[in-house]
Amino acid sequence: MALSPTAVLVSSFLFYCGYYFMHYGKQPQVYKKKTSKFSHFLDNYVTTLVKPFWSFFVVPGGRFQTIVAALLPRDYKVSYYRKENISTPDGGEFLLAWASPGNKDEPTKPLVVIFPGLVSRSTSGYVQIIVKELIKLGFSAVVMGNRGIEIPCQTGKAFCAADTNDMQLAVNTIRERYPNRLIAGVGISFGGLLLSRYLAQKGENSKLQAAFVYCCPFNPVAGSVNLEKWDNWLLYNVFLTNDLLKIYDRSREKFVGVVDHQKLKRVRSIREFDIHMTAKVFGYESVDHYYKDSVITTKFLHSIKTPTLCLCADDDAFVPIKSLPYQEMAQTDYIAIAITHGGGHVGHLQGINPLSTPYFVEMMMDYFTAVFNHSDELPEIEKPTYSVQ
Ligand SMILES: *[C@@H]1O[C@H](CO)[C@@H](O)[C@H](O)[C@H]1NC(C)=O
Ligand SMILES: *[C@@H]1O[C@H](CO)[C@@H](O)[C@H](O)[C@H]1NC(C)=O
Repeated sequence: MALSPTAVLVSSFLFYCGYYFMHYGKQPQVYKKKTSKFSHFLDNYVTTLVKPFWSFFVVPGGRFQTIVAALLPRDYKVSYYRKENISTPDGGEFLLAWASPGNKDEPTKPLVVIFPGLVSRSTSGYVQIIVKELIKLGFSAVVMGNRGIEIPCQTGKAFCAADTNDMQLAVNTIRERYPNRLIAGVGISFGGLLLSRYLAQKGENSKLQAAFVYCCPFNPVAGSVNLEKWDNWLLYNVFLTNDLLKIYDRSREKFVGVVDHQKLKRVRSIREFDIHMTAKVFGYESVDHYYKDSVITTKFLHSIKTPTLCLCADDDAFVPIKSLPYQEMAQTDYIAIAITHGGGHVGHLQGINPLSTPYFVEMMMDYFTAVFNHSDELPEIEKPTYSVQ
């Protein structure tokens, strides 16, 4: 008896459904120190941490979901950014894009500072989703734009994962303006790497009430090795490298004498870009020194004194699960990490509609609502009495 095509289709579909329901829809694994005040805070107020994550039904695997998420035709158009250039002591310039609907400054609202990924801008899809959702909840948002991305480089220097000087200036500038405001930070991917380092360097004096760190490659040495594999290279590395090269191209004259133009022209991966650009500009002996220097070590994790919730997926090509310091985080008083099955790198699309609010945004909003509404219950955060240095 021959099977009809319909029967084959139906049974394949059912087979796939069986597979999907077996493998997805799990609660994230949460690693935190059970006895810490932060752990109790999360248990009491952040219910998304126990919500099952149903990875996007059509593309549940992280690799392709990352691409789907990046290519989705989301049309948020945050049209109300007020952009401000911030000059750095070394003659550089970076951007603060303030979300100000109605062009109003509302200094009583809690504020979230967004540090986006490597080549992202205030207009990148996921950044706009975060901004929109924050505004919807009655919070304010400001996006930091690294040198060279939305405004051209003014000097022969762009950015590097181990240099938080611009971030320090950004937070100081904002805190100086609003000494008594509730302010939290969110770092995504590269931005998360910088934010974690910043929080570690500043300890009790981070000037932020809380932080959310998403898809952070805590160990860039491991992340880089994974990204150089040919399939990942083809999937993501090529696009990111092209964007990095555009930053260089736009400000090429600023880098004369610092980098070798002929070599940069032939760059085909992030690692090669870092060999010929980042490592050179920031004075590293080699790219391996640069990556090693960018690792968020256990010592760094223990120096963080700002309540910090991290979220990652177990199939993130930029953040190999083996390189995630989740056991170490569970020993600290201020860090917790949730790891989902599926979600990819800055993906976390959920359910059957890829345009619905991604899981990471849901968790982020849940967290910030808790942070702002119950700030008095956060560990060791009293009334903000910041002295600006
Ligand atoms: C910020 O810098 C950009 C690029 O250099 C420039 O076009 C823009 O006018 C500057 N904005 C302000 C407010 O100075
Ligand atoms: C948080 O606080 C605001 C303002 O006090 C209130 O409108 C909102 O309902 C609160 N949200 C939650 C989830 O408690």
